[in-house]
Amino acid sequence: MLVSAKEMLKKAKAGHYAVGQFNINNLEWTKSILLTAEELKSPVILGVSEGAGKYMCGYTTIVGMVNGMIKELGITVPVALHLDHGSYEGAYKCIEAGFSSVMFDGSHYPIEENIAKTRELVALCEQKGLSLEAEVGAIGGEEDGVVGGGEVADPDECKMIADLGVTMLAAGIGNIHGKYPANWAGLNFEVLEEISKKVGDMPLVLHGGTGIPEDMIKKAISLGVSKINVNTECQLAFAAATRKYVEAGKDLEGKGFDPRKLLAPGCEAIKETVREKIALFGSAGKA
Ligand code: 13P
Repeated sequence: MLVSAKEMLKKAKAGHYAVGQFNINNLEWTKSILLTAEELKSPVILGVSEGAGKYMCGYTTIVGMVNGMIKELGITVPVALHLDHGSYEGAYKCIEAGFSSVMFDGSHYPIEENIAKTRELVALCEQKGLSLEAEVGAIGGEEDGVVGGGEVADPDECKMIADLGVTMLAAGIGNIHGKYPANWAGLNFEVLEEISKKVGDMPLVLHGGTGIPEDMIKKAISLGVSKINVNTECQLAFAAATRKYVEAGKDLEGKGFDPRKLLAPGCEAIKETVREKIALFGSAGKA
């Protein structure tokens, strides 16, 4: 059964570790992530962007697939199915479809509008027992064709949104989606510390987990980050392993073209990436 991310993140914040949100793209992704979380006895959050939602034939298809897998694979660890960077309309659709968690990304609206829309969704999610993530300060980089500039959030605005009663808060601190450029200035820990002080117990979310050096991840967790989103890194690992398989001519040997064989190295690569992240985030054994 899917669960809200509330309990797992409350425990993570109190226990000074973070739960990984791993974005899914298809059945192989979902299966690889769920099996790894179960293997390491870690809670896990499956992230679905609106683009990936369309690709996977809509939110109800995804809810059916994930619920089916939890049952058929005997997954016992807490699993939250979460809309990533949802629009206002997208959040409603996911709530309707049976997601257990949604993000409403109102960071591109003026703060008053972000507050009004977030407030409305807080009430609805509370009523339905779902977790809600809000965002202040756009995360840079490109995601689903949306390019953000990588703002640094205003700690007072973070406090205003946190006080609405959201479950977790994503605050831009110089993090970006996708690979980091060579001249990246790093995470802004001064601002993170200030936000942390203002929002108290509220679990903070770090987007753009791909390519952030380990020491920065650990420092961010020590300053109140309890959820870390990873997407691109699994895609890169999958693509590299698949490329290696094809370049070695394995798809031409025997039944190597069978998708169950062709996609197997990529799935193993996703599992290895997820294992590394769960170890780094400290959530193994916390289910
Ligand atoms: P990356 O693709 O950089 O890992 O970011 C993932 C993310 O933040 C999803 O919201």
